[in-house]
Amino acid sequence: MKSLREILQTADTERVAIGHFNVSDLTTLKAVFEAARGLNVPVIVGVSEGERKFFGVRQVAAVVKSLRDEYDFPIFLNADHTHSMQSAMDAMRAGFDWIVFDASALPFEENVRQTKLAVEALKAVRPEILVEGEIGDIGSGSEIHDAAPDLKKGLTKPAESKQFVEATRVDTLAPAVGNMHGMLKSMVTGQTRKRLDIERIREIKEATQVFMTLHGASGTDDGDFRKAIAAGITVVHINTEVRLAWRRGFDSALAKQPDEIVPYKILPEVVDSIKSVVAARLTLFNSDRRQKIAAG
Ligand code: G3H
Ligand code: ZN
Repeated sequence: MKSLREILQTADTERVAIGHFNVSDLTTLKAVFEAARGLNVPVIVGVSEGERKFFGVRQVAAVVKSLRDEYDFPIFLNADHTHSMQSAMDAMRAGFDWIVFDASALPFEENVRQTKLAVEALKAVRPEILVEGEIGDIGSGSEIHDAAPDLKKGLTKPAESKQFVEATRVDTLAPAVGNMHGMLKSMVTGQTRKRLDIERIREIKEATQVFMTLHGASGTDDGDFRKAIAAGITVVHINTEVRLAWRRGFDSALAKQPDEIVPYKILPEVVDSIKSVVAARLTLFNSDRRQKIAAG
């Protein structure tokens, strides 16, 4: 099986994107895995600090490893939005493939200093691990928001991206390019969509030449996804859409079976609901491939 770095390199060359989906529980993980396997495309599972506290750091790593080994399938695990060195080291020791070290809320120089230290400390123990850094403001919370934060001042600049990547030696960069964590109510109903600054993506890619991750991607315009991937995005993070599908599937299953108490009779509808969202996103992210990237 190819390594995660090789898979990203192929996706970067072919100008397709690898889907990254956050999970909090086994039901969601099962749905993400089944969707990716059904389409035969590699996939990344992400757990934020809150999600891994609920799931268990070593437990989620053990389940993902068991799927990868048993099915010989390229499913990888990311420690999403990790804010402390301790939590980054815990995830690295548990066997995570990737750490998003997120010091983006700090002033630029301090973000550079802490991210550089994290890259050095993590790679000193596991040189193959991927480390991502983040600059700019994309808001917080993969939830449904009442109002959009003003993120215009926090857009990532190509020159500072170059400086950040050279100083920290991160493998991947998460920029602020019109993306935002979570969805507005109008996005949930489909009345509005997130729009991306495609030219900025292209300029950052040219300036840095590293893999780029689009965070906060739920509710993004389909055409903008395609253009963003063509301009240099290699990984796309989706969380809110997955959580919404989880809730809708659960509500629907309970409404249909109000007296049912057997989890394995209720939860298949939750799996199906999440699976269809994940499959649609994976299909879109791979739709403009120049050459098929087989998972195997
Ligand atoms: O790291 C997680 C993602 O950036 C999720 O963002 O909730 O807008 O899909 P989202
Ligand atoms: Zn994110």
